Parts: sequence; structure tokens; C-alpha cells
Amino acid sequence: MRTETAKPVRLEDYRPPDWLVETVDLDVALHPTATRVRATLSLEPNPNGRNGAPLVLDGEELSLVSLSLDNVPLTPERYSATPSSLTIAGPPRRPFRLTIETLVNPSANTQLMGLYRSGASYCTQCEAEGFRRITYFLDRPDVMAVYSTRIEAEKSDAPVLLANGNPVSSGDIAGTDRHFAVWHDPFPKPCYLFALVGGKLACVEDSFRTMSGRAVALKIFVEPGKEGRCAYAMDSLKRAMRWDEARYGREYDLDVFMIVAVSDFNMGAMENKGLNIFNDKYVLASPQTATDADFAHIEAVIAHEYFHNWTGNRITCRDWFQLCLKEGLTVFRDQEFSAEQRSRAVERIGDVRVLRAHQFVEDAGPLAHPVRPSLYHEINNFYTATVYEKGAEIVRMLKVLLGDDGFRKGMDLYFSRHDGHAATVEDFIACFADATATDLSQFLRWYAQPGTPELKVTASFDARARSLRLDVAQTLPPRPGHPVGEPMVIPLVLGLIGKDGRDLPLVTADGRRIERGMVVVSRPAETLVFMDIPEPPVLSLNRGFSAPIKVFAETSAEELQFLAAHDSDAFNRWEALQVLATSLLVEGVAELRSGGRLRVDQALIDALEATLSDPGLEPAFAAQALSMPAEADIARDIGEDVDPDAIFRARSELRRSIGENLGPLLEDRYARVSDRGPYRPDAASAGRRALKNACLDLLAMSGSSAAIGMAEQQYESADNMTDRMGALAALALHDVPARARCLEDFYRTYESDPLVVDKWFALQASIPEPGTLPRVQALTIHPAFSFANPNRVRALIGSFAHSNQTQFNRADGAGYEFVAATVVDLDPRNPQVAARLLSAFKSWRALEPARRGKAEAALRRVAGLETLSRDVKDIVTRMTDGGVRTTDKG
Ligand code: PHE
Ligand code: ZN
Repeated sequence: MRTETAKPVRLEDYRPPDWLVETVDLDVALHPTATRVRATLSLEPNPNGRNGAPLVLDGEELSLVSLSLDNVPLTPERYSATPSSLTIAGPPRRPFRLTIETLVNPSANTQLMGLYRSGASYCTQCEAEGFRRITYFLDRPDVMAVYSTRIEAEKSDAPVLLANGNPVSSGDIAGTDRHFAVWHDPFPKPCYLFALVGGKLACVEDSFRTMSGRAVALKIFVEPGKEGRCAYAMDSLKRAMRWDEARYGREYDLDVFMIVAVSDFNMGAMENKGLNIFNDKYVLASPQTATDADFAHIEAVIAHEYFHNWTGNRITCRDWFQLCLKEGLTVFRDQEFSAEQRSRAVERIGDVRVLRAHQFVEDAGPLAHPVRPSLYHEINNFYTATVYEKGAEIVRMLKVLLGDDGFRKGMDLYFSRHDGHAATVEDFIACFADATATDLSQFLRWYAQPGTPELKVTASFDARARSLRLDVAQTLPPRPGHPVGEPMVIPLVLGLIGKDGRDLPLVTADGRRIERGMVVVSRPAETLVFMDIPEPPVLSLNRGFSAPIKVFAETSAEELQFLAAHDSDAFNRWEALQVLATSLLVEGVAELRSGGRLRVDQALIDALEATLSDPGLEPAFAAQALSMPAEADIARDIGEDVDPDAIFRARSELRRSIGENLGPLLEDRYARVSDRGPYRPDAASAGRRALKNACLDLLAMSGSSAAIGMAEQQYESADNMTDRMGALAALALHDVPARARCLEDFYRTYESDPLVVDKWFALQASIPEPGTLPRVQALTIHPAFSFANPNRVRALIGSFAHSNQTQFNRADGAGYEFVAATVVDLDPRNPQVAARLLSAFKSWRALEPARRGKAEAALRRVAGLETLSRDVKDIVTRMTDGGVRTTDKG
């Protein structure tokens, strides 16, 4: 346990390293409990560092075996070694070689940081600060070195030995049953990108020819027996490689690109140079075991990690405050990739749903922080929706502001100017400013100010002057440590739609035609005037969600219905339905709480009916249209005094009413989009299944025996996991015998496949019934469950805490108590997973008083414990102290 007095790291304290590392030569002898690591570092004083500074290397839980300088053993008075640092007081002021021998125990490593075991394999995870758990090092991303790695192991224990870069040599060690492999990575990299793997792994191979004609071997390593489930990952990889060449002119740079899938992994995947390590959930897929959503995630994560080779690896971050420099940019790149592989509009809707459900919620609560924080206590807690998803939105806004050509010029300059370096957000933005001669200084505020900007738009039409005036006012809500917001640069794409449903040309008062429908709002209040407007138009604002903001405009239900049917911007057609539904739900929640009823507006029913009947709309879009705002979204819109039960009831009633009102149409669509041929994972087929299951979902809301029978029938006849899970999810909402029967059958059918059993855990944890908490508690002792595996914990406990709004927020507080107690139990074993689980409390301040009191009591009990990891301590403190820990006042 490492509870210690909190010493935050501050961006303003950044100093270049005093020492540089030119090369790292590692020699690792794998052993289950005593792995010996010999690291030889060639060090030299940094001309930009402090002259004569001591050499202080980072470590964590290390034990030193031996230490020598230029091959001469160092006597104990020349250094001091603790498990967490190695200091050499008077090092030579010239280049020298330091050889450090340490012992580590991978089997005892339950945090899954550094060198650990997953099943029978050895693997590593070094981002952000895991390399220091392997050897003493300058564990910071601006120290970039060329690595050579020699690994040896018992042949029977680890026949496959992998590390970053290209293979150099391998062979048996004479007279032993051990063997070795040597790898060399010619590209200088920070230590967080180091990786090695050893184990009994099967390999699926393919190859790729880069645009300049170089051959690259592609290899995916999995546990033996799982080779048959790698095809989609391999196909996604090849498409991603081709796409980065076509869109950014970036080609792969080593002779081999390897992916290793492991079952125990804290996050999704990791972009280690040439040797990506993946949570196997983002590699393995077959029609029988993976849903369409799983296939889409695999495609996105494979692409994401591959794209990091240029945005993250070749150009890395100067320090961890710049995390969004690689993550926001790479998420943007993978989103664009998916948009071009699938349907742009549908992908955008999905991305915005995720942004609102996670990032907007985070930004509205005590864990709010800027996309580039200026202070942290534990960097692991900043792999957040804000850094990733809002970070991606900032890059997208740059593209909207500068246009496709300007954006590409800026990216080209970024790649040429910073290749091989550790860069900052300022460096990145300067490339776009320089390449397009644009002043982006105000734009930088997006990185510094937390909170979701709000834009209020008031329209006035002047019939005599045939002009439309828009008064636009922007505000930034005060956030912890950021009481006043400075105005942002907001690229607002808009349209004015005439009665015939067509976009009117946008002409300003001085006769200028507005290109791409984009206006830039950069002052607190602005007035925009459009000329030659024959009649009051309907406003379509923030098209394509051009900026990650909340827009408030007085749009009537009739206008929203009109937009849903006619907007040329598909995103805003969907958005109009969501706005219509949200206002109805927010009113309905208030009604229900005061004993009234939910009033379902016919405008919404009519708009949904029109959408479903429009033959020009793709099924995947129709499915998104039918999917009502999530409970968390409604809660965020209500903002305070939130009652999760009332929200659930309002949403259920609305869905039931849609199902009843549109019954025949939903049944008709259900039948029409049901494919008969064999399963195919492509976007169009997935879209049809999405619509089919969205129809079933609404039809089943009635709980009638016909509806339940329909779901059961789909469950039984499904030839793929998407339809099977769709049916099971519909059944899960009803406490009927068919549900128990199907859940039983599901477990028996898939019990040998942990990734599928996770779906079974997650579904049961999400059931909105009082019986769920005891059910989840009982499942923690189910033979298929384990607290040691992050996927299991996330599936069962994570789903309960993050996705089951009514049961996590039980009025009696038992949900809070259970999750808090689980966090405390898990913390000594795996602080990262524990801290993430605790973040489920992030909206506690918005709850109605009784629940708020119970949530706070649970949090305060955690906060009061003596031995908490830094990870959990940081989250619980920010959660309970108003969030000042991420500000400079902290
Ligand atoms: N860098 C990983 C990514 O691609 C995420 C990650 C962070 C993985 C920390 C492991 C540990 O987003
Ligand atoms: Zn990433």
C-alpha cells in the first residue's frame, strides 16, 4: 500500500531531464517468481539540464542485485537504492554506461503494471509509469532511447519470446533447456512504449506491402485454440494500415507488426512500438461469440493502436500533462477511420452519444478537469473521457475551422517538424497556425478550461428587410477551480431551412457567402445577420455536432418534427428527435414525482413513424432514431435533485408508449430487416440487425405474452451473438420464466468462454430490479467470476455501478455500500481498476438529498481509511472536496 502525503505534479514545474539515455540494452531471464533484469544504460548529461545534478532513477517495488559503472562495480557509498529510487550522487560529467541488475516477481504482480503473468504467459504494461517496476530508469516520456532486448526462458515455459522492433537472433542455450531471442528497435522511444512477451502462444500470420513497397509481416498471437477468432482483427489492421497511408501519407516503419491478445489487462489495449498488447476482448471475434458492437470496437481499437505508431510513438508526449496530444488526436483518427469504413452519420451519432454520456457527465461533476490538466496526483486517473473524447473533439474542431486542406497541411507539418521528438499541445497547435497562417491563440483555451460551453441562440426575422438576425451568447459554467470562463472559439456549422425543406444560401449583411455553413463564434455575445431570407426559416444549429457544446434555442415541437424529416444534416435529424424526447422526458419526470403522468407528445410519435417509413434512411440510422436518450443523459439534463427511479419510469413509459403506438410498423420493419443468409459483420448487415433489435426492444416493452414469445423465439433461433443478446436484453427487463430459462441456457452454452460469460454477468448486473444487488453479490462467488481479472470485475461490478442507474442508486444506499466496499477490497490488489470503479460515483452531487446523503456517507467512509492506494485516494478526495485537487489552488 502506498498511502503517502500527497505531493501533486504540476505542469508549471516541468524541467528538461538532467540526464539523457542514448541506448538501453536489456537482458531479461524470465522466471515465474524471480525474473532477473539486467539493464545497461548509456547515459550522458543533458546540455539543457542542470550541470552537475545527481542521477536519480525511478523505481517501484524493485530489489537491486548489482550495480556497475563502465563495468566497474559501484561501492555502496557511491549510491543509494530503495525500492522506489536509485540515486548516484556524483556521477561522471561525461557519457558513461550504467549496468543495473534487479529481480522482479511477475507472479506476485496483481496490479498488472510492469512485468506480470496473464494465464501461462508473461507480458508487460508500462504506460504510464510501469517501466520503473521492471528496472530503475528515468521513467518520463521525454527521455527517448534506442532499445535492444534479449529475453531468455525455459523452452517449455515460454517457446515464444517477443519484444519491440525487429528480430535479430534467437536460438537454444547450449547445455540447458533454455532458449533466447534478441530484438532491436531502431526508433528512439520513451520507456512507456517498451514491451516484452513470453509464453505458449499460437500465431496467425499475414503480410502487408507498404505504399513504398516494403514488406511487413503481420502477426497476431493468441492462446492456442483461439486462432480461429483473429480474422476480423487482422482484416481491420490491414485496412487501418492502408487508410493511414491514403489519408495521412503515413506508412509503417518496422519489418514486423505484432499484436498479442491477453486475458488480463487493465485497459483496452496498448500501442507498444511494433508489439501492441491487447485485452483479448478487442481481438477475438466470431459470429457466435461477438456482437456487431464487439466487431465495431475491435475495428476501432485495432486501428487506434496502429495509428499511435505515428501519433504517440514517432511523435510522443513531452510529459503526461500532454496526454491528449496522443490520445485525443488518435481517437479522432480512429473515429474518422470508422466513419469511412462504415456510415459517417451513424458513427457520428454513436460518438456523440458516448461523449455526452461520459464526457459531459464527467465535466458536470466533481471529477471535471481540463483536456490538458495542470496538476495531478496520480496520472493513471487521467485516462478519461475528457482527455480522450473531448480531446478528439478539439482536433475535429480544428479540421472544421481550417477546412480539409488546411487541416492536412497542419498534420503534414506536425509529422515533419516533430518526428522523433516529445512534443506539447502548443507544438501541435503551432503547426496548424503556421501551415495556414491562422491565429489559434484563443483556440488553445479548449485545452485549459473545463466545462461544457453553452450557446444560447435567439432568432429574429425581419420580413421587410428579408433578413434573419441571430443573437448568439456563449457562457462557460463555473467549474471547480475555474470560476470564470473566458470565451471560446466555437466553430458553429448551421443551416437555415426553408418551407420546402431546402437549405437557404447563407449570405451575410455585407454580401459575403458563408462557406461550408460555418460561422466562428469567439466573443461572449455576437450578432449574425443573414440576407435574402424570404420567410422565417427553421434553424439547424451545430450541424454534425461541429463543437462539443450545449445549444439552447427556442425550437418548437413542430419545428423539431420538421427538422427530423427534412434536415440535410443527418446528425441533426437524429438530434431533433433526441431533443423532442428529452424535453418530454424531463417534463415527465417532474410530473411523475408530483404524482402526475407522462404526457407523450404526438409530434414525437409522428416523427418516429416518418423516420421509420422513410425508405431513404439506412437501417442503422433508424435504429439510432428509435433509441431514446439514456437515463444518465436525462439525469444530466435535469442537472440537480435527480431521482433515478422517476427517470427510469418516465423513460420506460415513453418506450412502452412508442412500442404500442407504432406496433404494426415496428413489426413490419422487424420482419423486413431480418436477414436470412449467413452472418456477415459488415456495416450494412450490422445496421439491419441494429434496427431489428431496436424494434424488438420497443415491442417487448409491453411485456405481453406475444412480445415475450417473440423475444424468446429470437433467442432460440439466433445464429449469431448480436441477435441472441438482443433478445436476451429485451427479456431481461421482464421478470418472466422465459428470462430465467434463457439466462440458464446462455450460461450452459457458453460457460467455457470467459468473454461471453462476461456478457452474461453484465446483463444480469444491469437488470433494473431490487433483486439485482443480491444477485450480483451472489455472482461474485460464482466459479466463473474472479476479482483478479479486470474484465470480470468490469462486467459484473462495473456494469452494476456504471450502467444500472436505479439499482446502484437504490434509495436505501445498499448499492453505494456494496460498490464502495468492493473498491476497498480490490484496492490492494489492483488500484487502477478499483479507482475506475469508484468513479461511478461521479454524479453523486446531483442526486436528490436522501440519496446524495447516502452516497456521500459511503464516499466519506472510503476517504477515511488509512491505507488507500494513491489512485483511489486521489479519486475519493476529488470527489468529496469539490474537485480543487486538479486546479492550481489545490
Ligand atoms: N495508451 C492506451 C491507448 O491506446 C491506453 C492505456 C493506457 C493502456 C494506460 C494501458 C495503460 O489508449
Ligand atoms: Zn490511445
